[in-house]
Formats: sequence, structure tokens, C-alpha cells
Amino acid sequence: MAKAPYIRNIRKEDLAAIVEIEDRSTGVSRRDYWEKRIDMYEAIRPSWTSVVAEVDNRVVGFLLGRAGEMEFGLADPVAWIETIGVDPAYRRQGIAAKMVEHFNLSADEHDIYTVFTLVGKSNGDMEQFFAKRGFAQGEMRHFQKRVKI
Ligand SMILES: CC(C)(COP(=O)(O)OP(=O)(O)OC[C@H]1O[C@@H](n2cnc3c(N)ncnc32)[C@H](O)[C@@H]1OP(=O)(O)O)[C@@H](O)C(=O)NCCC(=O)NCCS
Repeated sequence: MAKAPYIRNIRKEDLAAIVEIEDRSTGVSRRDYWEKRIDMYEAIRPSWTSVVAEVDNRVVGFLLGRAGEMEFGLADPVAWIETIGVDPAYRRQGIAAKMVEHFNLSADEHDIYTVFTLVGKSNGDMEQFFAKRGFAQGEMRHFQKRVKI
């Protein structure tokens, strides 16, 4: 049976592991991007909204989120899952599920009772993952406009 992951708040030292997980997932390596993003998370996001999963003291997954109040005309605060990734070698062992469960519990502890995320239309894996965790299509509509002339 797979080992239960240990979930903890993200730290700056997790940068290399996150870069590697993304590289192994998508073939894209973005060290500078993640460095800035982790700095930003440390500076302005509540620490509970970004976590990593460790197995045998190795970071094998990450979840980056944030908390928002009175955004988009919503009356209640919302916690956002912005990015989630698990090392391909550790998938289908319940690691992402554990990170989401941890995030949901933390949101509840901070009196936030709704979690939002966005899933691409053609990202069936992600859709199935979130559906399995009890997420369903919400009431908000996604609007966008291309501004390149
Ligand atoms: C989606 C993702 C986070 C799932 O991580 P995971 O740790 O493998 O997920 P879990 O093991 O917790 O899955 C729980 C349940 O979700 C569903 N699920 C997970 N991955 C799935 C997939 N690829 N296809 C269909 N259903 C899936 C299953 O129902 C699964 O339960 P089961 O294994 O008992 O059937 C992972 O596949 C991933 O990181 N994908 C890449 C995402 C990405 O591009 N992120 C940005 C850059 S890294």
C-alpha cells in the first residue's frame, strides 16, 4: 500500500522540487517564474493556502492557492485552488486528494466555506479529479477577451 503523504505549508526551499514536478509533468521548466511566485505567496497569501506533499522526506506534490474576500460580487469569502501538481511517478496514490482535503479543512478552520478552482474544458483528468472530490460546476461564468490587435 502507498505511504500516506505528509502535508505541510510551502517553504522557499521547495522551489527546486516544484520546478522539477512541473518539468516532469509538462516538459516546461520555469525556475524564475516559480521563484517569483513563491516569493509572492510568502508575502501576501495566508500561509495555509499553499502546501506541499512529502513522501519519505521528498516533495512529490504541491498545491498553491489563495483566499479572497468580497471578490466578483460574492458576499462570502472564497478559497481558491490555483495550481495543483503531483510528480508523475507518485500519481494515483491519493496524494492530490490529501492536499485538497487538507486545504478544505484549513479553509473551514478560517471560516471559509467555499472552495473555487478553474478547470480547462479539455482537461478531462483534472475534471474527473475534482469531481471525485465533490467539486461541481458553479454559478460563476468565465468571461475573456483577446486584446492583441
Ligand atoms: C490531476 C493530478 C493533480 C491528480 O493527482 P494524483 O495524486 O494522481 O490524484 P489522486 O491519486 O489523489 O486521485 C484521486 C482520484 O481522482 C481521480 N483522478 C486522479 N487522476 C486522474 C486522472 N489522470 N484521470 C482520471 N481521474 C483521475 C481518480 O478518481 C482518483 O481516484 P482513484 O485513483 O482511486 O481512481 C495529477 O494527475 C497532476 O498533477 N496532473 C498534472 C496537473 C498539472 O498539469 N498541473 C500543473 C503543473 S504541474
